[in-house]
Amino acid sequence: MASELAERILSYLDQNGHVDTFDLASVFNEDHQKVVGAVKSIEALGELISSETVTRKKWTLTDEGKAVASGGSHEALVYNFIPTEGIAQTVIMKEVPNAKVGFSKAMSAGWIMVDKSAGSPLVKRKVETITDTVQEHLKAVEKELDEAISDSIKNDYKKRKLLQEIIIKSFVLRKGPEFTTTVTKLETDLTTEMLASGSWKDLKFKAYNFDALGATPEPGYLHPLLNVRTEFRQIFLEMGFSEMPTNNYIENSFWNFDALFQPQQHPARDAHDTFFMSDPATSSKFPMEYLEKVKKVHSQGGYGSQGYGYNWKIEEAQKNILRTHTTAVSARMLYALAQQKEFQPQKYFSIDKVFRNETLDATHLAEFHQVEGVIADYNLSLADLIQVLHDFFSHLGFKKMQFKPAYNPYTEPSMEIFCFHEGLDKWIEVGNSGVFRPEMLLPMGLPEDVNVIAWGLSLERPTMIKYGYNNIRDLVGPKVDLKMVMESPLCRLDRN
Ligand code: PHE
Repeated sequence: MASELAERILSYLDQNGHVDTFDLASVFNEDHQKVVGAVKSIEALGELISSETVTRKKWTLTDEGKAVASGGSHEALVYNFIPTEGIAQTVIMKEVPNAKVGFSKAMSAGWIMVDKSAGSPLVKRKVETITDTVQEHLKAVEKELDEAISDSIKNDYKKRKLLQEIIIKSFVLRKGPEFTTTVTKLETDLTTEMLASGSWKDLKFKAYNFDALGATPEPGYLHPLLNVRTEFRQIFLEMGFSEMPTNNYIENSFWNFDALFQPQQHPARDAHDTFFMSDPATSSKFPMEYLEKVKKVHSQGGYGSQGYGYNWKIEEAQKNILRTHTTAVSARMLYALAQQKEFQPQKYFSIDKVFRNETLDATHLAEFHQVEGVIADYNLSLADLIQVLHDFFSHLGFKKMQFKPAYNPYTEPSMEIFCFHEGLDKWIEVGNSGVFRPEMLLPMGLPEDVNVIAWGLSLERPTMIKYGYNNIRDLVGPKVDLKMVMESPLCRLDRN
C-alpha cells in the first residue's frame, strides 16, 4: 500500500532526521520509483517534509559487460581456449568470440606467448594459472560492491565498452514545518454536507493532477451506409446541386402518387406494395387549386394529354402512407418552385429513407435509402439527361454506361441505367431515370418550355458492392455486427 509506505518514510525521518530516497529504497528493500511515488503523495498533503533533488553517477554494466561478468573476460576466454601444446593463432581468431581484443589483452597481461621455434608459430600459455580480474571487477559492479575499484580502472572498462555511467536522481528528505508521522487521507470531493456544516474549512483537499492522462473517450462510429451517403452528397454538392428537405417519412398518397400522375388503380398503390398509416389515416390539407388540376388531368386529361379517363377520388389521395420514393419530395419541391414569381433553373438532390411492403430477401428490405437527382431548366432533353448521368456516374468511377428503355408513370421517356463494373467485370443495374411528364409538371404551373430530368438509385446497392456484402442483412437490421460498423474503413468512391 502506498500510504503504508508513506507512513514508513515519515517514521524513518522521525527517527533519523534526514535520508536520501536512494538509500531509503535499499533500507526498505523497495523499488526507488515506488519510494519517490510515496514521497510525492506525502508532499501533496502539505509541508510535512522538505525534499532536495540530488543527482549522482552510478556505474552499470553494458550488455557486453554483462556477458563478461557471467562468462569471463575476452582475454580469459582466449587463455582458456589454448591447450598445453599450443595452437595456431588463426584457429583462435576463428573460434573464440572477440578474439582480437582478447588476444592482445592476454599478450600484454603476460598470460600467453607466441612460440616461433618450431617452424609455423604457435600460441602457448605462458603462465600456469590466471586470475580474471576484469570478470571479478564487473561482478562487483553488478552487485554494487565496487567502491574499492578505482575510477581510472572503471574508466578503462568504460573505454572497453564494458561499463557505462548513468545519472540517478534522488531526493534528500527532511522534516518540514508541518511534520507528522500519520498520513491523513485527503478529500477528493467537496460535498453539500461539508458546505452545510462548515467542516470544509478544516479538511485537506487533494490537489488536481492536471498531468494525469484522462480516460480515452469512446468515439462514435459511422455506419458504412452513412459513409457512402457522405460521398454521394459530396458529389452532388461538387456538381452544384442543393439538398431537398426529406425529413418526412410519412407522406400522403397525393404527393407520393397523384401529383406524379400515377393513376389511383395503379398496383403500386396496393397494400401489397405500400405501407398505409392507420393513425392518422388521412391528410386534409392540400393546395386545392392544384389538386383540382391534378384531378382533371387524371380523369379528363389536358395539356395535350387524354388523361386516364377514370373517376378520380380525393379519398384515395388523402390516404397517409410511408413514402415509397423520395420523388414525392421532388414533386413538392417542383410545385413550390412553380409558385415562385419567376422561374429559376434548379438542381436538387436528396438521399433518404423510403419504405416498400416487399418480400424480404438477401437484397431487399422493407426500407432502404434512395439517392435522387432532379434538374429543372428550359428546354432540357433526353440528351441532357444522358450527359448528366455520364457526369454523375463517372464521379463514382464508372466509365462505361448503357441505357434501357423503361416505364414510370411520371417520366417519358424513361431509362434504366446500367454501368460496367470493372471490379466485378460485369454490367450492373444502378438506377432509373427519365424526363418528367407534362401531365405532372404543367398542372403545377411550371412554364411550358421548362423540362425536368431526374434519376434515382438506392444507397444500399453501391454500399454492398463497395464494401463487399452479398446479404443486405449484414449491412442493415438486427443482425448487423457492431464490430463491422466500428472497423469498416472510410469510403472513397473512385474519382475521375
Ligand atoms: N422514383 C423512382 C424509383 O423509385 C426513381 C426515379 C426518380 C425515376 C426520378 C425517374 C426519375 O425507382
